[in-house]
Amino acid sequence: SFSSSASTMAQIKQVTVIGSGLMGAGIAQVAASTGHNVVLVDQNQDILDKSMGNLRKSLQRVAKKKYADDAAGGENFVKDVLGKIQTETDSAKSVLKADLVIEAIVENLDVKRKLFKQLDQAAPQHTIFASNTSSLPISDIATSTKRLDRFGGLHYFNPVPMMKLVEVIRIPDTSDDTFKSLVEFGKANGKVTVECKDTPGFIVNRLLVPYMMESVRLVERGDASPRDIDTAMKLGAGYPMGPFELADYVGLDTVKFIIDGWCEKYPDNPLFQPSAMVNKLVSEGKLGMKTGEGFYSHKK
Ligand code: NAI
Repeated sequence: SFSSSASTMAQIKQVTVIGSGLMGAGIAQVAASTGHNVVLVDQNQDILDKSMGNLRKSLQRVAKKKYADDAAGGENFVKDVLGKIQTETDSAKSVLKADLVIEAIVENLDVKRKLFKQLDQAAPQHTIFASNTSSLPISDIATSTKRLDRFGGLHYFNPVPMMKLVEVIRIPDTSDDTFKSLVEFGKANGKVTVECKDTPGFIVNRLLVPYMMESVRLVERGDASPRDIDTAMKLGAGYPMGPFELADYVGLDTVKFIIDGWCEKYPDNPLFQPSAMVNKLVSEGKLGMKTGEGFYSHKK
């Protein structure tokens, strides 16, 4: 628990989401669906238009379920939510009224630092900054700003509208008020929040990525096949997906990117060692579901 005395915590109403890709569009959708005003930012209007098109389709799917017998109600819902989202290509301008900025741009430390340095100069004093990074240390991103006490991690899961979890990450400098605001925001999004320190992969990826890599090593040694390992973990451990199905879903390029990054930073950790099999599949462009082939063929 955290102290609530002399709290200056303000409710988060205005949210800027930077990066309108897979994660950013999902975060914008969920934040707007739960009553927040959202500014969604990307590099150009073409990307934003495409993202808003996908977001509209995703909302229509939600509406179809939520308003199964009420088509007009469903249409109003979609209209209301879309009305809460503005798009913007100027990131400095996008944060002028923000209570919270959530960054979901490309997973590259230098690019993220450059962005936050610029945002730090443009955003009001009270604005809280958060990164949705999967694998980079929040501290390494936060030190590009002068608001370490108002910086944390908000780690959502794909697909954002479906997945119930948000990991809320605090760095040593994150203030109790900031942390509390981030937790409250996650809850206000209808999510369940868990707290974690700024440790590689936080909770979920720290356990899942080495598990996937260890599964690959079983195959590399010739001990078992991907199909049998997936069957075993689904029926023997009760997991909804096996590790190879999961790797193909996440994308082998992403798995490789995360493990390579951790291996470079922590070369002595045996859990963070790369795999020749994953490297080969990635070099052949077999990245999983998105390319039609990974450990399995997904061609229709
Ligand atoms: P994505 O590639 O789908 O989207 C990234 C978007 O950011 C693109 O639309 C790109 O045009 C935009 N962008 C890049 N640089 C920008 C800049 N300087 N200013 C404004 N926009 C910029 O990537 P995705 O998958 O949405 O990932 C985004 C972040 O979320 C990454 O940090 C990733 O590690 C993290 N993440 C990804 C998950 C996943 O399952 N894909 C899950 C949880 C976190």
